[in-house]
Amino acid sequence: MCGIVGITSNKQVTSTIINSLKKLEYRGYDSAGIATLNNGFINEVKCEGRVDTLEKNLSQTNLKGTIGIGHVRWATHGIPSTINAHPHSSEKVSVVHNGIIENSTILKKYLIKKGHIFKSQTDTEVIVHLITEYLKKNNLKKSILKMLKKLHGSFALGIIFKDQPDLIIGARRGSPLAVGYGPNENYLGSDSYALKSMTNKISYLNDGEFCIIKKDQIEFFDSNGKKINKKILQLSSTENNYDKGEYKHYMAKEIEEQPLTIKNCVNEYIDKINSNINIFNFPWKSEEINSILLIGCGTAYHSCLMAKYWFEQITTLNVNVDIASEFRYRKNNFKKDTMYIFVSQSGETADTYAALDLCNKNNMKTCSVVNVVESSIARESKFVLPIHCGPEIGVASTKAFLGQMLVLYILCLKLSYMRKDINKKKYLEKINSLLSLSKLVKLSLETESKIQLVCSSFVNIKGCMFLGRGYSFPIALEGALKLKELAYVHAEGYPAGEMKHGPLALIEEGMPVVVLAPRDHYYKKTMSNMQEVIARGAKVLLITNKNKDEVHSENIWEKIEVENTSEDLLPFLITIPLQKLAYHSANKKGYDIDKPRNLAKSVTVE
Ligand code: G6P
Repeated sequence: MCGIVGITSNKQVTSTIINSLKKLEYRGYDSAGIATLNNGFINEVKCEGRVDTLEKNLSQTNLKGTIGIGHVRWATHGIPSTINAHPHSSEKVSVVHNGIIENSTILKKYLIKKGHIFKSQTDTEVIVHLITEYLKKNNLKKSILKMLKKLHGSFALGIIFKDQPDLIIGARRGSPLAVGYGPNENYLGSDSYALKSMTNKISYLNDGEFCIIKKDQIEFFDSNGKKINKKILQLSSTENNYDKGEYKHYMAKEIEEQPLTIKNCVNEYIDKINSNINIFNFPWKSEEINSILLIGCGTAYHSCLMAKYWFEQITTLNVNVDIASEFRYRKNNFKKDTMYIFVSQSGETADTYAALDLCNKNNMKTCSVVNVVESSIARESKFVLPIHCGPEIGVASTKAFLGQMLVLYILCLKLSYMRKDINKKKYLEKINSLLSLSKLVKLSLETESKIQLVCSSFVNIKGCMFLGRGYSFPIALEGALKLKELAYVHAEGYPAGEMKHGPLALIEEGMPVVVLAPRDHYYKKTMSNMQEVIARGAKVLLITNKNKDEVHSENIWEKIEVENTSEDLLPFLITIPLQKLAYHSANKKGYDIDKPRNLAKSVTVE
């Protein structure tokens, strides 16, 4: 999704801005641009497509300047094109924007009446003309305040001015924004990834705030223009050099990293010496919590759904799951004895953030499960459980999904034990099983060769289905989502027992159906549902676990077996072949695996 970079320095900034934009590519975008100030003139270079194209265009233009802003755009208002790419500039001012201005149509009418001429189809351009208009009669700070007050919607902004050779304005409402501190230069970025290659000292703007960045000073203001102080945070240096290494794609690397990320996460939360789960500073007493509501989007929603099955099985808590974009606009009966858990890899997803904000405003118990600990969602939750996965660059989430499930499972065990829903023996058994999870995930990666053989059957098809019951149902949804996202194949995840109530009509001769049937207590039921699709011509890829009992069924097209473990942990193992299936199907088609079309990693608009 859109990304912002801004730098003011005493050195040339173009190549640093480009490098920083490259760090933001993981978010998903469709056009890119840069504007600098040189000898009192704003100059822009923009293009449709990738930052590489922008770099090529720049090599022909010799864009100079010691101050500049850059942007990668994920289209919302107006098609992906050079003209709609940011920055948008007038003679006086140049703007980059993440988010959506909801009242742009009304503002545009007003500005056209005042004689402003619009070039693009974007909502962003109204910001340029508003500032230009206000600057006619007001000083810079007053113009910014007036402009911010006029805007409805969500935004993070970076602005430079023709008459200000050392000044960038940053402003946020809804969309995240950070500043970075460097030696003789300072920075603006839409997230810490944009800034990490330049500095590890950053501050975040809160909602409604704006800042004035000069190369040797940064000042912060609240929404009324009153000066405020900010803490400078020190970022860990471990994430600075995350690259693909020998892998063709980040996604391939991230799938293979899972044994390690699981191990790291287990080490963070499990005290092996005392066989206990360490969740320090949990702010509530267990008896204050009677129910749980898990909220997320996309893959994170699937890990929430998985957690519902565990919480219901292992605790006596009431558990519900919600899609953030639905939750935020429904009438909610907020309850004091509910813990609201927000799951988000990036910690910046606009819908999840808005749902959290709503709960905070109603003074609820909010907890987040995130990968990026400096993110907005982490900062604004009352309690944070990090998943310790390291950066995830591939747009389609893999290692973060396993990390989210793992942390939710660990939380579930801890609460269950605190509430005396399980006894010590069971608690210790379950902790013990967790200790071998990393090794078993590693063995599941060996399903690769078999997946490579079957994936050609998933490439040029009208559609396919992923079926599972119980613990395997959320994984079926996730398997289908991965194939949709990466191979652009229509895939449905469905509860196997629900097929007969409609979707069975879709099954026709030769249609690939992935059946998830590990030997848990749903196994026999799922096998019966599998027979129903086989009888109607489906080509079944069965994913189960190794077991001394053979699978007794005829006409299974292919079978993949993962290792054996406790029922609770089988979902981790059966996820791996599904990630690989999506990866290899997309790879066969030659698709852009790390940046699938139309999608974004960090979805900062609603
Ligand atoms: C986007 C990504 C998905 C991700 C979802 C939620 O749609 O493409 O991969 O699952 O956002 O992201 P989050 O960062 O909140 O987990």
